[in-house]
Amino acid sequence: MTTDWEALYQSGEAGWDKGAAAPALLAFLAESPLKGHVLVPGCGRGHDVRAIAAAGADEVIGLDLAPSAFAGAETLANTHFILGDLFALPAEFASAFDAVFEHTCFCAIPRERRDDYVQAVAKALKPGGLLLALFYLTPRDNPDLTLGPPFNASVEELDARFAEHFTLLRSETPTVAFPGRENREVLRLYQRRGD
Ligand SMILES: C[S@@+](CC[C@H](N)C(=O)[O-])C[C@H]1O[C@@H](n2cnc3c(N)ncnc32)[C@H](O)[C@@H]1O
Repeated sequence: MTTDWEALYQSGEAGWDKGAAAPALLAFLAESPLKGHVLVPGCGRGHDVRAIAAAGADEVIGLDLAPSAFAGAETLANTHFILGDLFALPAEFASAFDAVFEHTCFCAIPRERRDDYVQAVAKALKPGGLLLALFYLTPRDNPDLTLGPPFNASVEELDARFAEHFTLLRSETPTVAFPGRENREVLRLYQRRGD
């Protein structure tokens, strides 16, 4: 069944939105700001977009398919919000980004479309570009992988799905997280391989 994200925003059921950028992203940016042009797919209300922009990226584009996600969201000089589908990116997004930041978009994608997610992110990145991903691995206590969204994932699944296009540079359990997400996330830094 397709999720109506717009309806969830309109009915005030955006329970994933914590009103702030992800703590693990802020900790990462304090050490290593993302540079250049950055894409944030499934950006929601844009907290992560603004944090990456404020940390010094040249331009940060937040993409979401729900108009109400970022309607009225605060923008900075180097942020843009675009209504669109990650699975149908505009042609000008091909090899356009130095970095992509993932946060609670992958877990919103059903398993049968997750390889499409990997392809889309790989296509958007320049060769050598970085994918910084804060994967919310186990939003559900029930291990049934068909339940969602949000859908659970495992590091083994990530290894299998991302291996074709990405080299894993770093992988760690974040030391900071939103309450309730402690030890349920993994922060990974991947590099897009050249083809
Ligand atoms: C669980 S929410 C997370 C939002 C945001 N990352 C956050 O942490 O607050 C998932 C978001 O992905 C968006 N989304 C789902 N499928 C998408 C797609 N194919 N293309 C773009 N956005 C998508 C939804 O509209 C929703 O805003």
